[in-house]
Amino acid sequence: MRNPEQFRTLRETWPETHKAWSLCPEPTLWSAYQDGGGAEVETHVWLESMVHLLKPKTVVETGSYFGWSATAMAKGCRDNGFGHVFTFEINDTWIAKARAFAMAEGVGDWVTFLHGDSHTMPWPETSVDLMFCDGSDDRVGEIRRFQPFLSSRALVLAHDAIGGGEYNPQFVWHRLQEEFVRVLLPTPRGLWIMQRRGVPEVEAALREV
Ligand SMILES: C[S@@+](CC[C@H](N)C(=O)[O-])C[C@H]1O[C@@H](n2cnc3c(N)ncnc32)[C@H](O)[C@@H]1O
Repeated sequence: MRNPEQFRTLRETWPETHKAWSLCPEPTLWSAYQDGGGAEVETHVWLESMVHLLKPKTVVETGSYFGWSATAMAKGCRDNGFGHVFTFEINDTWIAKARAFAMAEGVGDWVTFLHGDSHTMPWPETSVDLMFCDGSDDRVGEIRRFQPFLSSRALVLAHDAIGGGEYNPQFVWHRLQEEFVRVLLPTPRGLWIMQRRGVPEVEAALREV
């Protein structure tokens, strides 16, 4: 069954409430689900588009929560006709709700919800083409954990680039600056697009363009 009443409140939105910051002076132009625990609605739309654009075979997400972002990326895989999202969630309450949400949205076969710690839960060493980091307070650790599995064309996307204040801890993102080229997207809670430095295929492509 698609869009059952039980998920109605999960789709009610209001203006984003993150405090303004230098590159995002009007956060209320964006929307958030009323529960407040997920990324901005626009971030979910963007994630679906990134899957359309990049055609990843394997997507890894840390932090499923209610499954909004995982479901958005799973919809991208479904539209592509290939690809799969693997999303880690430490809290079993959320993981059950997220699974039910993805099923209700018709993409249950395109996403696997893994119940466990994103830092330590076994990963079958499959190559990762796209990562969305939005889980624990140790986001740098989550990215470092999957770094060895990133394919040559992989991008890492990360939420909460703007930490601190009443909403988020400081995620010490600067610790990744030696290993990744980073672009900061000026959204309410900030997004990173990251690409590993020194990947031979990327370096060769950069010399050709
Ligand atoms: C910000 S929410 C994720 C929101 C989701 N990505 C979305 O936009 O729809 C962060 C989630 O990460 C989970 N989490 C925290 N630490 C974790 C860990 N070590 N491993 C896996 N999940 C974790 C939390 O339980 C929470 O549900």
